[in-house]
Amino acid sequence: MMKVVLVGCGAMSKQWLDAARRIEGLAIVGLVDLDAERAQARAREYELSNAVIGTSLDAALDQTKPDAVFDVVVPAARRDVALTAFAHNCHLLTEKPLADSPENARAIVEAARQAGCIHAVVQNRRYVANVRRIRRFLDSGAIGQPTSIHADFFVAPHFGGFREEMAHVLLLDMAIHTFDAARYMVGGEPASVYCQEWEPANSWYRQGSSASAIFDLGGGKVFTYAGSWCADGFRTSWESAWRIVAERGSITWDGYDVLKAEAVVPGREGLFDKTQPIEVPALDPADRVDGHLGIIKDFMQAIETGTEPETRGTDNIKSLAMVFGAIESAETGRRVVIAA
Ligand SMILES: NC(=O)c1ccc[n+]([C@@H]2O[C@H](COP(=O)([O-])OP(=O)(O)OC[C@H]3O[C@@H](n4cnc5c(N)ncnc54)[C@H](O)[C@@H]3O)[C@@H](O)[C@H]2O)c1
Repeated sequence: MMKVVLVGCGAMSKQWLDAARRIEGLAIVGLVDLDAERAQARAREYELSNAVIGTSLDAALDQTKPDAVFDVVVPAARRDVALTAFAHNCHLLTEKPLADSPENARAIVEAARQAGCIHAVVQNRRYVANVRRIRRFLDSGAIGQPTSIHADFFVAPHFGGFREEMAHVLLLDMAIHTFDAARYMVGGEPASVYCQEWEPANSWYRQGSSASAIFDLGGGKVFTYAGSWCADGFRTSWESAWRIVAERGSITWDGYDVLKAEAVVPGREGLFDKTQPIEVPALDPADRVDGHLGIIKDFMQAIETGTEPETRGTDNIKSLAMVFGAIESAETGRRVVIAA
């Protein structure tokens, strides 16, 4: 049985606990939150009457001696939580983003390395069937190497709370999912970014609700991102809407169920090379999906087998570097070199 303490019993903890109770061999032995009421409420809701409830992670880890910590706190508290977990020799699975600054990200990754603990991030939007299908389709070479990757994210939620007050809200709180998916789908190595942020007249956010960024993903691949969190009308999915252009064709994904590809075939019609639809194969049984559930299972398997999980911190920090590069570019008005 793998013993786990979950810290941060706010909104997202529900998704974690829903997933955790579907996994055999996993026991939540502690629930921690600065607000003890929240931890108690989750314990009642999930019938975790034997779990230790507290406001101090350190004390809960001393008391329960778990194998791992699930970190669902706000980004600003992540470094302290991570260092506490590693100090207790606990493996750590953390909500996105890995950290709230490049320095904290490096400190956390380094602390995991020194402690010899597994450290992974819930970057759940790559555990999505169509993201896996696109990666496999592009890897097959059916339309050649990808060259140009375009994502549109237009969603207009009224969250209330911290998001409406924070700086760089779209880049810092959401765009990492899209950036990580882009990097994953085309096997990119982010090299540089130019980004501009702005506040549309109707925005209900303090700063950074809308952004456009152009990334050089290395190997002749350019990724453009256009996003807004206050664009009413023609809402896109949370996964973004995608067009990926390759050497001999393109693939589009509406971010929901519609995945279409066209490949160049011999012959011309007027000015244009002929193209025809080409099938994108179904999900491969080896492809890992299921969002939080899939990531938690992979994390446990990595602990059990002594392997590195896919969303390990040492790799995820490259997606985070795309976010911080974009923020620096937006702040300075200059193109920024990305160094993870
Ligand atoms: N993967 C996704 O799709 C997704 C979606 C939404 C949010 N998130 C991420 O989940 C994380 C949590 O977001 P949320 O919406 O649940 O926030 P929230 O504010 O609802 O909950 C965070 C909880 O952490 C607690 N907390 C803060 N600092 C703490 C500390 N030092 N020790 C113990 N508890 C502490 C707070 O009291 C609060 O109850 C964030 O990193 C957010 O970016 C991920």
